Amino acid sequence: MKPEEIERMRDEALAAFAAAGDLDALQEAKVAHTGGTSPLALANREIGALPPHAKAAAGKLVGQARGAVNKAFGARQAELEAERDARVLVEEAVDVTLPYDRVPAGARHPLTTMMERVADVFVSMGYEIAEGPEVEAEWFNFDALNFTPDHPARQMQDTFFVEGPTGDHGESGVVLRTHTSPVQARAMLDREPPVYVVCPGRVFRTDELDATHTPVFHQIELLAVDEGLTMADLKGTLDHMVQSLFGADMKTRLRPNYFPFTEPSAEMDMLCYVCKGESVGNPDRPCRTCSSEGWIELGGCGMVNPRVLVACGVDPEKYSGFAFGFGIERMLMFRHNVEDMRDMVEGDVRFTRPFGMEI
Ligand code: DAH
Repeated sequence: MKPEEIERMRDEALAAFAAAGDLDALQEAKVAHTGGTSPLALANREIGALPPHAKAAAGKLVGQARGAVNKAFGARQAELEAERDARVLVEEAVDVTLPYDRVPAGARHPLTTMMERVADVFVSMGYEIAEGPEVEAEWFNFDALNFTPDHPARQMQDTFFVEGPTGDHGESGVVLRTHTSPVQARAMLDREPPVYVVCPGRVFRTDELDATHTPVFHQIELLAVDEGLTMADLKGTLDHMVQSLFGADMKTRLRPNYFPFTEPSAEMDMLCYVCKGESVGNPDRPCRTCSSEGWIELGGCGMVNPRVLVACGVDPEKYSGFAFGFGIERMLMFRHNVEDMRDMVEGDVRFTRPFGMEI
């Protein structure tokens, strides 16, 4: 066992450690130069086979070499660890002063807010929210509501037909509901009177999308069925609604109209909440909201037609009912000065955001 050879082994190990650029490379060098099959380990094992007089010198020689190698390894390891820690501190640094709230918060669509706002007026009076399907049986959408088979509202220009009548007995076809009124019929069939429900929902008509029309829009419907209900109850309910939504000095008026499912039927107007009627006949104070009419048209209403009560299993001798329905888009338009219907359907957050999270 020659000293030069042991020194060469030692120097090769030291050179390999110095050349290792990272901790993984250093680990590999360590296995190669100090592991069980490394030259120094083999030399160490050979000492046992030497004659006794040579053992001490050889032991010292190899021992010193191995000591130097282990020391060099420890030093290089400490160096590489320090480098890694310094690099990680830079590369993985987190700037805790960066703003964390740049993700824009969503806002509810003002139509949803408006619909819930109206529904809440009635929920607080004890009414229940009722819902029905958007893809509706023609029977609920029309027949149950006393629309005769040749009623113009059934014609193709208004109604999206999904399926024609099926079977041999002329069973009901399927349509996209053209109004929320079929929920009236469903509500009466589902419950025993008294019935007090509001039905907000999406409805469909074959209109082209433009500034004042949209094929998909929203309505809210109300139905009350009880003993002794009269038109005075309807009027009081409408007045309460507009006062809750638009202010304590608001009121409504009714004008005669026709709907197949109410008798008598009326068109309901509310006082213009901007000019309170003062623009009428007053050219010095024109009102854009009501075009100086003093009143804003809301929707339709009336006393539930006894034929509808019968079709829905309610005894018209014992019970009477009132109902109304109106469009949410229209209400949003005049309440918030939205001039183009398309703004409501396009989903541009620049329209929605100013309404914020108002609830
Ligand atoms: N469903 C009617 C429409 O869409 C509106 C309506 C009129 C609803 C009179 C009613 C009502 O509840 O009583 O034009």
